[in-house]
Amino acid sequence: MKHACRCGYGRVLLRPLEERDLEALRVLRNANRYFFNTTGYIESQQQRDWFAAYLAKPDDWMFAVELSARPGVFVGAIALYGLDRETKTAEFGRTLVDKTLAPESGIGTEAVRAVCRFAFRELGLKKVTAEVLKTNLRAQRAYAKAGCVVAGENGESWLLEIIPEQEEEW
Ligand SMILES: CC(C)(COP(=O)(O)OP(=O)(O)OC[C@H]1O[C@@H](n2cnc3c(N)ncnc32)[C@H](O)[C@@H]1OP(=O)(O)O)[C@@H](O)C(=O)NCCC(=O)NCCS
Repeated sequence: MKHACRCGYGRVLLRPLEERDLEALRVLRNANRYFFNTTGYIESQQQRDWFAAYLAKPDDWMFAVELSARPGVFVGAIALYGLDRETKTAEFGRTLVDKTLAPESGIGTEAVRAVCRFAFRELGLKKVTAEVLKTNLRAQRAYAKAGCVVAGENGESWLLEIIPEQEEEW
């Protein structure tokens, strides 16, 4: 979805993903593709097609991750999608942090907290969910630090959720 939303948490700033980010995102996603359900290698044209389809999609907020100490430098991405207006829930995912550009500990955790803060404060959601492969211990650790708890499982994945009442500082 074409949007103009920005949010932040700790050292992390989230801004709308733009066309100029696509190649860095493609390279980062390809390098980490086995941490996702869809593992195919993404070519440049596929990435451009995906971005065009994303822009046309309603209720899908794709963010670029930047650090407040190094504004303007793309270091990763995160998204919020699957909005259910009745139950006031959505899912976060497509989470990526380039550890060569953002080696500091806690950046992924803060990116999750930033996107959840956007969901709770700006969209007024009651719950944010996520799915993570059971083999992806690093993402599980980052998500747990951000406040995610296990709510179930789906085959090879854990189903996670964050409910704002559990956290005071959103
Ligand atoms: C998942 C990801 C976004 C997390 O970002 P990050 O900046 O590394 O996250 P954080 O530093 O906040 O937290 C990572 C934690 O995992 C820990 N960790 C690192 N490797 C680990 C491993 N193999 N097993 C368990 N924990 C691990 C880190 O030590 C850290 O915990 P700590 O702060 O207690 O030391 C990032 O690593 C990434 O892009 N991974 C590849 C793509 C991916 O898996 N995306 C998620 C798909 S659901």
